[in-house]
Amino acid sequence: MSIDYSDGQYSGEDEVLLSASFTREDDGEGSLRPRTLAEYIGQDRAKDNLSVFIEGARRRGEPLDHVLLHGPPGLGKTTLAGIIAGELGVTLRKTSGPAIEKPKDLAALLTNLNENDVLFIDEIHRMNRAIEEILYPAMEDRQIDIIIGQGPSAASICLELKSFTLVGATTRSGQLSSPLRDRFGIDIKLEMYAPEDLRKIIERSARLLNIPLTPEGANEIASRSRGTPRIANRLLRRVRDFAEVTGDGVITYEAADSALTRLEIDRTGLDAIDRRLLRSIIDNYGGGPVGLDTIAATINEESITIEDVYEPYLMQRGLLARTPRGRCVTRAAYEHLGIAEAGNGQMALEY
Ligand code: ADE
Repeated sequence: MSIDYSDGQYSGEDEVLLSASFTREDDGEGSLRPRTLAEYIGQDRAKDNLSVFIEGARRRGEPLDHVLLHGPPGLGKTTLAGIIAGELGVTLRKTSGPAIEKPKDLAALLTNLNENDVLFIDEIHRMNRAIEEILYPAMEDRQIDIIIGQGPSAASICLELKSFTLVGATTRSGQLSSPLRDRFGIDIKLEMYAPEDLRKIIERSARLLNIPLTPEGANEIASRSRGTPRIANRLLRRVRDFAEVTGDGVITYEAADSALTRLEIDRTGLDAIDRRLLRSIIDNYGGGPVGLDTIAATINEESITIEDVYEPYLMQRGLLARTPRGRCVTRAAYEHLGIAEAGNGQMALEY
């Protein structure tokens, strides 16, 4: 498999340790990525189904049907796209929705694909509608219609494409238009990882990076990584720094606990922003309900970051609930923060 990164343009987001979006620090992520389904840990249902679909396509000598991967950031969507291409023995071409600015950008990507290649479009929900419409006939009939020239001399030409597989990744499948969603034959939802799977991922990464790690050290990082391999690998590197500089370099339970505490990551993996978010709903809005944009303004974070990065884990832990009237903290959130429940007449949601 060869991987072409030339089209991959990821926004250089703020360096937030727990953010699961790409940051510069993840540049080393590539070296840790599993290359085959056998090496890929966790997501068993997705993996089992994919292996059947890939084997079927390979036996028939056909391209794999188009695949939509969805789930919170950092769960391995890009990694799976690479594995799909690798298992099919074809080239992976990577781009992202916002990087495709003009129809001709997409036309260039599509016409440069070789037979059965995989085109990976990250954040596909952020692609603009005019470009999306070029994708429909490309996905369905392997054709694109492009307009050449301008004004009276403009002409529409139809280009035939080689067969290819589109792998689209999104954190927000609800934002995809239904014509686009309907054109994906394979729909895979990635779930947050169980601590046991994260522990295996951390142990694998530590082996590859030659980091001495005890099982208890691995468990501690796993249980504080919010169900997300990207965060687990990032925390592993940061804990290694503390272990090397302030200890003997071995990541034991004590080394992991002390480093993560210094990084303000608590025992369930919440960071300072998670706690600020919960606290502000309690302190300012009696525990909720309160609208997302109001919370965002109060804690000075982007609504989209709160929705994509912070809320999924808080909801999974049962600390926050989305209700039709707005966000509410749960009783478990009061307990987690060690705050006595409201003297303000409001009851926290029972979860
Ligand atoms: N590194 C990141 N995600 C992984 C996964 N699911 N399996 C193995 N290594 C990984």
